[in-house]
Amino acid sequence: MKHKRIETNAILLLVLTLATISIGGIVEIVPLYTIESTIERVEGVRPYSPLELAGRNVYVREGCYTCHSQQIRPLRDEVERYGHYSLAAESMYDHPFQWGSKRTGPDLARVGGKYSDEWHVAHLINPREVVPESIMPPYGFMLEREVKATDMAAHLKANIAVGVPYSGEMVEAAAADVAAQADPFGDHDGLLARYPKAAVGDFDGQPEKVTEMDAVIAYMQILGRMVDFTTVTAPALRQ
Ligand code: HEC
Repeated sequence: MKHKRIETNAILLLVLTLATISIGGIVEIVPLYTIESTIERVEGVRPYSPLELAGRNVYVREGCYTCHSQQIRPLRDEVERYGHYSLAAESMYDHPFQWGSKRTGPDLARVGGKYSDEWHVAHLINPREVVPESIMPPYGFMLEREVKATDMAAHLKANIAVGVPYSGEMVEAAAADVAAQADPFGDHDGLLARYPKAAVGDFDGQPEKVTEMDAVIAYMQILGRMVDFTTVTAPALRQ
């Protein structure tokens, strides 16, 4: 009899259905906020430097994620090809995350340090110059487009709004840090204290200006290099 009342009253049925489904949802989701290992504690993950962040913005704008993933799965073939599988902590400051869902090109989660800056410039100008069979589009126009260094403080603030722990000092130094990172003779001490392991130098071979090419390469060169994996004791691989 009680069932009849529920099944003939659409609103009551809806309310009770939602209540039942949310119990399932809560049981799945709430523990993730309380278990210690949801995001592993690893040393070294830091917010992106302003130049890396500018490069990351270009990466998102150009849709590089439509062909490249940034997540190495814990499977032997992936780990042997790319390196240690991706940890949740590695993308905790990524807004939006760049895990991707398709690999037309290879995964880029560990591409930092794999190639020289000169290789990246040649590859981005014309991928077929260095990889004859490549189907990646050319991005030479990035050499012409300058990074608006003065905008980067606002980008850092936007990231603060979604929880990235940039300090007031980092926001203040944002424009100067863009210039310092792309200048081989710049004052790198402050930059490297704020953003350890940041790659520095004149990435694109045009010392007189800071371009999107500089920014994208600075971003490529930090990918996968923040965490020292010799010190990480993560669960064993699935065979
Ligand atoms: C249409 C798909 C496509 C898009 C879009 C694309 N790529 Fe690629 N990318 C590839 C393919 C295919 C390869 C492998 C061949 C090669 O090295 O060129 C590749 C290779 C690479 C490599 C070398 C990776 C390695 O480990 O050897 C880098 C770095 C890279 N791409 C960066 C980028 C960046 C940065 C962008 C956006 C500005 C981008 N790609 C956009 C398809 C794409």
